[in-house]
Amino acid sequence: MKIISVVGARPNFMKVAPFISEINRYNLESLKTNREQIKHILVHTGQHYDDLMSKKFFDDLEIPEADINLGIGSGSHSEQVGNSMIELEKVFEKEKPDWVIIYGDVNATLAASVTAKKLHIKVCHIEAGLRSGDLKMPEEINRLVTDRLSDLLLTPDLLSVENLKKEGIPDSSIRFVGNIMIDTLENNRAKSDRLDIKQIIKFNMISNLKEVTISKNDYAVITLHRPSNVDDKEILTSLVSFISTEVSEVLPVIWTIHPRTEKQLKLFNLWEKLIQVTNIFLVNPLGYHDMLKLNMHAKIMLTDSGGLQEECTVLGTPCLTMRWNTERPVTLREYGGASVLVGNNIDRIRKEFFNTLKESRKPERPALWDGKTAGRCLEEILKYC
Ligand code: UD1
Repeated sequence: MKIISVVGARPNFMKVAPFISEINRYNLESLKTNREQIKHILVHTGQHYDDLMSKKFFDDLEIPEADINLGIGSGSHSEQVGNSMIELEKVFEKEKPDWVIIYGDVNATLAASVTAKKLHIKVCHIEAGLRSGDLKMPEEINRLVTDRLSDLLLTPDLLSVENLKKEGIPDSSIRFVGNIMIDTLENNRAKSDRLDIKQIIKFNMISNLKEVTISKNDYAVITLHRPSNVDDKEILTSLVSFISTEVSEVLPVIWTIHPRTEKQLKLFNLWEKLIQVTNIFLVNPLGYHDMLKLNMHAKIMLTDSGGLQEECTVLGTPCLTMRWNTERPVTLREYGGASVLVGNNIDRIRKEFFNTLKESRKPERPALWDGKTAGRCLEEILKYC
């Protein structure tokens, strides 16, 4: 059997890592039993290309170098998807895989599903069925198209199974396998735990003039990158003002800066002032282990990232999700998770921020978020006929 995995952006890398390990394990066993091995080819579209957004994750998570890098780089959505499709078509036609495996909801996911399906190659979507209901979100469009085209839809939770059924996807295509991100978290927890928080900040700080005054369990972590939060001047200005004048008054703030956010902060003339604030530590995009360590001991997380919402749930870190909706409702407090939706309205964020500071850690593990999802994914692919 020949399988091609297609990845393109940071949140794909932690999903492909355990899947590749599982294939390696399968192939090792096959050697002993004379069973046919799986040939796996890793294709990186190159949407994320900086060392800090890509290579660092390959190194941290011991992902083998991509067999093929399409070097797509940045651009508008249509450019990224279109250019990826043109290049993927050549790869798929040459390699003729039995399966194309795609992960999550980024532009590479969409490009690979459409291209593979048109060439009549079977498509398997890992992390199928998530729905925010928000068609202004580029990722929601990617999810809808990908799931409509996929032959095998592997879901992280039971709500996603329901979403797919409502859309008329037949039961025979859907399998509930759990959350593959949690495999990566469990595989890397011990290594992260050995790291030192102050060293992480000192090493990654964008402005290194500040003394690092941070102690375990007594800091906030912030990540922001969604166009809805960082592309609008008024919204980003109000968020920066709240973080600088209110959050940093109560707790030291570690803010990991995504390239999109850095560009927008500079464009809106917010950057220079922000790097001067004493109690805010701006850091470059962090590697997997560094981010996990910060999450393990944060008093509170403020984020618009879907993956962090999930990791906060398993670690129990109280989390304010700076969005109006989520495709991951199992991470919300009403479902037992650690996160609350606060959007980007400052009054709402302020109220929930001060309420949440009184919360303690409550780790929660939704069904099948057990660190063994990759094995179930491979099993379902092998069983599919
Ligand atoms: C993408 C994903 C999003 C995911 C996020 C995580 C889509 C539609 N979006 O959004 O789902 O949550 O990744 O990071 O696929 N840039 C760099 N260096 C890089 C990569 C990007 O400087 O290595 C710059 C680009 O030039 C661009 C901006 O950052 O201006 C945004 O990158 P882009 O790939 O368009 O999407 P993300 O916002 O990262």
